[in-house]
Amino acid sequence: MSRLESLISAMTLPEKLGQLTMTTGGYAVTGPARVEDPSGAIIAGTIGNLLNVVGTDDVFKMQRLAVEESRLRVPLLIGFDVIHGHRTLFPVPLAETALFDAATWALSAREAAIEASADGVAMTFAPMLDVSRDPRWGRSVEGPGEDPWLAARFAEAKVRGFQGADLAARDALAAVAKHFCAYGPVTAGRDYASVDISERTVHEVHLPAFAAAVAAGVAAVMPAFNDLAGVPMTANAALLRNWLRGHLRFDGVIVSDYNAIGELIHHGVAADLTEAAALALNAGVDIDMMANAYRQGLPSAVDRGLVSVAQIDASVRRVLLLKERLGLFEDPYRRGATSQAAATLAQRRALARAIGGRAIVMLKNGSSVLPLADSIRRLCVMGPLADAPAEMGGPWPGAADADAHVSVLAGLAASLPGVEVLHARGVAIDGESMADVGAAVELCAHADAVVLCLGEAAAMSGEAASRTELGLPGKQRAFAEAVLDRARALAKPVIALLFSGRPLIVPWLVEKADAVLACWFLGSEAGNAIADVVTGRISPSGRTPVTWARTAGQIPLFFGQRPSGRPADPKDRFTSKYLDAPNEPLFPFGHGLTYGNFTLSNLRVAPQQVRESESIEVRVDVTNDGARAAEETVFLFTHDTLASISRELLELKGFGKIALEPRQKGTVTLILPATELRFLGIDLASVFEPGEVEILVGPCADRLQLLKSRVHLLI
Ligand code: GLC
Repeated sequence: MSRLESLISAMTLPEKLGQLTMTTGGYAVTGPARVEDPSGAIIAGTIGNLLNVVGTDDVFKMQRLAVEESRLRVPLLIGFDVIHGHRTLFPVPLAETALFDAATWALSAREAAIEASADGVAMTFAPMLDVSRDPRWGRSVEGPGEDPWLAARFAEAKVRGFQGADLAARDALAAVAKHFCAYGPVTAGRDYASVDISERTVHEVHLPAFAAAVAAGVAAVMPAFNDLAGVPMTANAALLRNWLRGHLRFDGVIVSDYNAIGELIHHGVAADLTEAAALALNAGVDIDMMANAYRQGLPSAVDRGLVSVAQIDASVRRVLLLKERLGLFEDPYRRGATSQAAATLAQRRALARAIGGRAIVMLKNGSSVLPLADSIRRLCVMGPLADAPAEMGGPWPGAADADAHVSVLAGLAASLPGVEVLHARGVAIDGESMADVGAAVELCAHADAVVLCLGEAAAMSGEAASRTELGLPGKQRAFAEAVLDRARALAKPVIALLFSGRPLIVPWLVEKADAVLACWFLGSEAGNAIADVVTGRISPSGRTPVTWARTAGQIPLFFGQRPSGRPADPKDRFTSKYLDAPNEPLFPFGHGLTYGNFTLSNLRVAPQQVRESESIEVRVDVTNDGARAAEETVFLFTHDTLASISRELLELKGFGKIALEPRQKGTVTLILPATELRFLGIDLASVFEPGEVEILVGPCADRLQLLKSRVHLLI
């Protein structure tokens, strides 16, 4: 009999339920806090997993109770939210997606895994794969944007990065694909609210990233808090047991979200913890995070015949198998106590700086005010996010020292030694006082250029941070307009830096500022990364992974819309449009300016007729007509113009990058396997239909900017 089977057969029911329980160690508060000292339960074997324990001392202390004092000596599984870095923070996921670079997405996850495992962590509750098309929802910041194909590429990269080649390695983290599924379209963008979307949208938009994560070998999956059409995801047997475990053959661990099993009572589908526990276990959930429902509810569920001991054993087996794959039985202390050489930390900070610079999306650069002119001698750096290092980490700060993040002010001062940098906050991030605006505005008169740092606090996005107003909080707009008016009167350029976990609705700022950079939350090296772009040390290259609406009334606004029977026509009243706003966004998906000036030409697609087993080669020439070197990103979209169901006007199928010197020309080649043109037919079964498909290539999801060709699919 194997070690695991021997263990299972030796376990009492409370010990088995201990392996299905995860409780917090209190290092961070990531849910309705209920922190009790787990020490006694660990020794009793009735808690087998912990979250929010960080640091070798604490991890080893808890691990020692399990492996040296408990009866069966089963090691603890310890998880933490390593979302975008651990002690060194990289840009928040939405920002990092803007790199459109899977290798770098994997690299930053690998570096985060090295740091977190050195702190004794063995599991990260990441990657978050929720496709989001509603920026009112604060958790958009944690995910890979609005597109399912992109989310799938992000999923693959992050799973491979976190887990590495061998899950038993001391620097490997078990990744958790979350939140399964369709959490992004919560009603009205309100976190935790109900979700009611079509089954087609669930399969076309919200499941592909999880299929990709499973294909990449993800160790675990976390169901979402929301109900989906009335069925809470934590109890959704159709999607958890039948689709995830059945159709995808996922045999890893399913860990509930924080207290989510207990919240089945609030959902109104369970009368008590017994029923809640039975629903979750029957749906396939293995670990109960923070609800204590399995320990309290499953014994009576067994007595009442709602679940069987065999089902409990199956879950215990999956948990023990994961611990074994992580090498925890061999060496429970494998993760932790690995010192990080100073040079390694410096390299990681340099990587965070480089990724930060590439995550910046230059939304506007009117009259090329950027990069800053060499003639500038006095620079005014203003606004509530100018000297705010702690905000730069975003809403999932990991185990980083927030005060050690580099602020915009510090980064610019360090990068411009010969320039006098003036600073004024002007207003708070959120608040009513305008008392300091006058003095701040007057500083403009003493500067050659103004950098205006505006946006959200880190806590204004992320979990439990939905907003109905998507402009600048507090009195920032009034302050910014006073600065912009004064600067214009003095003919001083204004560069606006936007810090946010979502695309903000700021058309007035885009109109009035000379340049606008989306700086999201860039992590530990934020200020240096921003300085690298603003000073021209590097060219911006980030492309927005979400559409920027012009007005909140357009939401949800995303490029993958279907054509409708009455496509917008400004000359025809009876077509799909608004009376009071355009259909077009402020900035489309993929938008992002560089210091180059790129033109695309000569799109070639071959072969023109293709069978499913073949691939399509797409080639396009790119020329940099600008005066500076830069990197261009080219997107490949398709549009199936005639099919058994109405198909999206644009479907993202690939992207390529090319770095070009001034006046240099190159070619981007993209290979599209024809099988990628399969879609879900009328009965949601995957089909490959003959007929014509448009191939569209260009700098963003604006059809007017895309070069177009077509292929003919043959059966
Ligand atoms: C939180 C979040 C989830 C996180 C978990 C553990 O409520 O929903 O994303 O991983 O609890 O902190």
